[in-house]
Amino acid sequence: MIEDMLRTPAAVQDAERHTAHNYHPLPVVISSAEGAWVTDVDGRRYLDCLAGYSALNFGHRHPTLIAAAHAQLDKLTLTSRAFLHDQFADFCRELAALCGKDLVLPMNTGAEAVETGIKVARKWGYQVKGIPAGQANIVVAEGNFHGRTTTIVSFSTDSDARADFGPYTPGFRIVPYGDLAALTEAIDEHTVAVLLEPIQGEQGVVVPPEGYLHGVRLLCTERNVLFIADEIQSGLGRTGTTFACEQEGVVPDMYLLGKALGGGIVPVSAVAADTDVLGVLQPGQHGSTFGGNPLACAVATEVVRLLATGEFQRRSAALGERLQAGLRGLIGKGLVAVRGRGLWAGLDIDPALMSGREACERLMERGVLAKDTHGSTIRLAPPLVITEEEIDHAVAQVAAVLAG
Ligand SMILES: Cc1ncc(COP(=O)(O)O)c(C=O)c1O
Repeated sequence: MIEDMLRTPAAVQDAERHTAHNYHPLPVVISSAEGAWVTDVDGRRYLDCLAGYSALNFGHRHPTLIAAAHAQLDKLTLTSRAFLHDQFADFCRELAALCGKDLVLPMNTGAEAVETGIKVARKWGYQVKGIPAGQANIVVAEGNFHGRTTTIVSFSTDSDARADFGPYTPGFRIVPYGDLAALTEAIDEHTVAVLLEPIQGEQGVVVPPEGYLHGVRLLCTERNVLFIADEIQSGLGRTGTTFACEQEGVVPDMYLLGKALGGGIVPVSAVAADTDVLGVLQPGQHGSTFGGNPLACAVATEVVRLLATGEFQRRSAALGERLQAGLRGLIGKGLVAVRGRGLWAGLDIDPALMSGREACERLMERGVLAKDTHGSTIRLAPPLVITEEEIDHAVAQVAAVLAG
């Protein structure tokens, strides 16, 4: 195609002109998608190896999810929580069952689920644990990513995320990720919760040392502290199990879920916990106009049903091995490290070779979409519907980019 006739450059410029520059997207303008593939405004196809940061675990426009959305659009879309609607109970019951918890509280974005978890933990601390008013603290990990609200960035260790957004919310203690001794030290009689990602996604798919999550669980039980697992990116099949915590046989007190729960169609997040924890909330103390709306519930119920079959978790585990093995074969050939679980991988590129951004631009030219993070790391998180051949194709393109 003649360069002048492409629609992409003008579309990129147009988008940049009318938005705050809080993202630095790759210069690709997507106009349609199906399964693991997206098509841009110039008709070029790309294998989506980011999957909306795991929001598209079931691929683009999964037929079951699209059908549920269409059917619901024709019936009822919003009631607010001032009234009940006929999609609410099924969603809450089925998600609670998937999580093995008594209750769920639906919200919209991941950050809202995290905020909800923080509020619930604090209230639990005052009402159940008996901590003096205003004294609760929550222990979090260095390198965390839990979202972008003022409270959440208050305990971020990433200066881009945090700088100039103060004054910051107090009540958080930061310890090195994966360090059980530091965590033990940080917990005191006013600690209400330990809030962790079982695998740190934004940090570059950082997997903690074996036994860490198990140790966190034991410690939290021993010290009467809630273990809150932020499974917003790691959960719902991404790592080869429904929850990443399962890989160490660990059940947290509270799951924070988001992203894939909305099936790549609507923002749906949720907190799942037992009655002794989530039961501390009374009417008027927390909520959201759109949280748990009929359209969200209709789609998310189907997401839960897809997960209940176990098929996506099995795919992620089996295909993940292929992806991880393929990528490990590139260590020493442009990659210095590969981390991951299931269909989720963080690749550290030799910084002498190129930046993560440069690698993603070159991958894009080769028809593969991925996202860099923290300088020289690339994250791969393809939809769980990806095939073996497509994985081999993605790995081959990474190899080609590294080979220059
Ligand atoms: C682990 C984790 N928690 C929370 C969030 C925030 O989710 P959202 O962007 O939907 O607010 C993210 C988003 O990347 C995440 O990865």
